[in-house]
Amino acid sequence: MHASVVAHPNIALVKYWGKRDSRLNLPAAGSLSLTLGPVATRTSLTFGAEEDSLELNGVAVPAAKRLRVATLLDRVRDLVALEQGPAARAALGGARILSTNDFPTAAGLASSSSGFAALALAATEAAGLHLSLPQLSALAREGSGSAARSLFGGFARMHAGTRADGTDAFAEPLFDEHHWDLRVVIAVTVEGEKEVASTDGMNLTERTSPYYPAWIETVEPDVQSAMTAIAARDFDHLARIAEASALRMHASAIAADPGVLYWRGATVEVIHEVRRLRAGGLPVFFTIDAGPHVKVFTPADEVSAVVRALEATPGVLRTIVTTPAAGAHLVHG
Ligand code: PMV
Repeated sequence: MHASVVAHPNIALVKYWGKRDSRLNLPAAGSLSLTLGPVATRTSLTFGAEEDSLELNGVAVPAAKRLRVATLLDRVRDLVALEQGPAARAALGGARILSTNDFPTAAGLASSSSGFAALALAATEAAGLHLSLPQLSALAREGSGSAARSLFGGFARMHAGTRADGTDAFAEPLFDEHHWDLRVVIAVTVEGEKEVASTDGMNLTERTSPYYPAWIETVEPDVQSAMTAIAARDFDHLARIAEASALRMHASAIAADPGVLYWRGATVEVIHEVRRLRAGGLPVFFTIDAGPHVKVFTPADEVSAVVRALEATPGVLRTIVTTPAAGAHLVHG
């Protein structure tokens, strides 16, 4: 009836931006990511409570602000009823969830990816369910599209799938966290939560951006090329694909009506700095999610030069150095 999980956020190299179904969070195209530590979400979940509750970073989250959590828990209860009968479902009772992030929440630092991966694993384990990894990944996806990828360590690929029930829209592991000794330096440009949630930004882009169809067309070819680049540990090749994917995703969002613009001045300063560093011979590339921060990739042995340069860039408040990390896993506690 109890489980504790550690999960790490992931950063997409080929972005997910657009849904073929909003209710089930089915992506319109695939995506490809790297799971990053040591930043982590720690979640413990215990069934048997009177009602569901969630404490995030020590603060109780009201029911109206945890609808996606409630939906995921109901899904777990339905699976229990299916596997073990209605009495087992009733015996579960409410779930008491305690979750902490050791990095900023809802700020464009992928806290939803680690958060819902941790929740899916903790809830299914505490409920005594035995799901396959694709089933678990699809369950995490219902909480947040990117969470489907955080179940896995290292590089993971998300499949868009074609089925209406979403059973083929899950992530799979490609190369584990030991495949390539990269560092990802997060340049934090603004403290605080982002202004437009990624689901709202995606929906507005899909409904109103004339560039949305063109964006979606780029995704699968980029996933294929990125897999080739990663298999060969070809940094320059991956750099081209990842920067193009991030810029095209943001271009489609900026062209929505009204435009969805996640960048701040410092975001643009970092883009220019990364290009300047690359022109000077440093292997480095950037990507940007639905927020103002910039994530900068570099081989492990170049990380101090990159940190120094980013911390000297106007508007950068601080940096967080991350490394390829393991998938979501159970822990004691
Ligand atoms: O998981 P969501 O619904 O927060 O969407 C994530 C969207 C991006 O972070 C911008 C891209 C991605 O693939 O992670």
